[in-house]
Amino acid sequence: MKEADIRRKYIEFFKSKGHQEIQSAPVIPENDPTCLFTTAGMHPLVPYLQGAKHPAGKRLTDFQKCIRTGDIDEVGDAVHLTFFEMLGNWSLGDYFKEEAIRFSFEFLTGKENLNIPVERLAVSVFAGDDDAPFDETAWKLWNSLGIPAERIAKLGKKDNWWGPAGITGPCGPDTEMFYWTGELPPPEKFDPADKRWVEIWNDVFMEYNKTADGKFEPLAQRNVDTGMGLERVTAILQGKTSCYETEIFAPIFAKLDEIRGTEPVSGPRTPSERIIADHLRAATFILADGITPGKVDQPYVLRRLIRRAIREGRKLGITENFTAKIAEAVIEEFGDIYPELRRQKAVICEELNREEKQFAVTLEKGTHEFQKLIDRVPPHITKKVISGKNAFNLYETYGFPIELTVEMAKEKGFEVDRAGYDAAFAKHQELSRAGAEQKFKGGLADSSVETARLHTATHLLQAALRKVLGPHVEQRGSNITAERLRFDFSHEQKMTPEQLAEVEKLVNEAIDRDLPVVCEEMTIEEAKNSGAMGLFENKYDARVKVYTMGDVSKEICGGPHASHTGELGHFKILKEESSSRGVRRIKAVLQSK
Ligand code: ALA
Repeated sequence: MKEADIRRKYIEFFKSKGHQEIQSAPVIPENDPTCLFTTAGMHPLVPYLQGAKHPAGKRLTDFQKCIRTGDIDEVGDAVHLTFFEMLGNWSLGDYFKEEAIRFSFEFLTGKENLNIPVERLAVSVFAGDDDAPFDETAWKLWNSLGIPAERIAKLGKKDNWWGPAGITGPCGPDTEMFYWTGELPPPEKFDPADKRWVEIWNDVFMEYNKTADGKFEPLAQRNVDTGMGLERVTAILQGKTSCYETEIFAPIFAKLDEIRGTEPVSGPRTPSERIIADHLRAATFILADGITPGKVDQPYVLRRLIRRAIREGRKLGITENFTAKIAEAVIEEFGDIYPELRRQKAVICEELNREEKQFAVTLEKGTHEFQKLIDRVPPHITKKVISGKNAFNLYETYGFPIELTVEMAKEKGFEVDRAGYDAAFAKHQELSRAGAEQKFKGGLADSSVETARLHTATHLLQAALRKVLGPHVEQRGSNITAERLRFDFSHEQKMTPEQLAEVEKLVNEAIDRDLPVVCEEMTIEEAKNSGAMGLFENKYDARVKVYTMGDVSKEICGGPHASHTGELGHFKILKEESSSRGVRRIKAVLQSK
């Protein structure tokens, strides 16, 4: 079964069970200061898992584009992906374990669905601990559906508990479903440590809220959050050991073959080829959601992805600019499902070309640096070595893959201290992973009063910016904590002090008018006709919330907000700076009057 069929079947199945299809949120989380990227289907839904009313109802289904960067250096093996799609179905305080498990079973085994024989399935359920009891309900349900007792593992928190995505928030025990990928017949007993049992789906029963002091309190409503990795399930159902061997990556590899002038291959692709395909697919989606390469946060991750792909391209002997061509293949393949790719095609290709040119200059500098290292060693020294530290510096600062350094060194009669390089690399990896974890710490959507006020201020700020700078100003990112707001928007030039003062004045005037913040639910069509700002595309059949503040601001938004602008206090801009090319960033606070 092809990826497209699985995606469609999944959505159709859950629609037939009373779920509303919702559109994928961007890969950049909105109003979430703790996460760089959307990492799971539940991520954009956190406020609704916590009790806010979702305009599309209590049963939702979607495929969500996700980015996970924790394992970026491991991409290249058979399984790791930076970008992937997650299929999901949600109950927001509606059905719970019984129906969730029945739905999962029916979808997995149903003839018109995935049609997996029960013999190839195993499941795990939460074993219970001090925080929550053994999930006997889930165990019994699976068993009654035909999963034998020896195929149901009981596992602890490490394996069968999901969330919170940060330190606090919705979480709960889960039940995971596994597919036997080894030789048939499968063993009678399920051994979770046997890698031939591959997890394909996870149903999380979100009934707890983890508090800041580590307690698990019952949530106001009991939710279901499920996640099925589309690429993985596609590979497994096709009997492939790697996602890279499915049709999902075929057009990307075909383009790469064309660029290299090589014949198509039938067997597994090399790590370099996989890295190029994965990283440029991820980069294309990130660019489509408005991020451009830069020095910090998402722009930095994007830059790393592009540069790593270019380096791997060099290893394969590609000397011309090639990243935009790969992006075109990605856009061609996924453009019907994610229309933003087509809309942003020009920007995506332009940014990739720009980054590639810039990186070529860096590599050029690296070649000089390399020559300096060579020249430094006097001719009479017989054992000529490039230290691990220097080799790593060539990699990290100038983008030289180690293989390239080794090869160039060999030409000059030098060796490279490979062990030293590996040690430096491992240390760096540890540091960057720790950095990434730091980023992922903290609560997800924080719905405190302070944050809600700053969120309201952000709407006023956007309206003021459009008034002062022009209608080209569009939100490119927003990051709000209880202390400050950060707002990224499209605008080329640095703002003048006069413009900043004018924006501040307009926002404070709107605050002084104490405008009520009115929330209305409507269809996208109605929102569009009412002149609301926001992302309309891609969401045609959904119902949305529109927040209006007098005649100042009207935006599609999920909230939460203050009830009147008068609650905000005094708005003050702290900083205006460049975020990435063509995008400015404002940091601002609310002070008490
Ligand atoms: N949120 C769950 C996961 O990502 C479903 O696995």
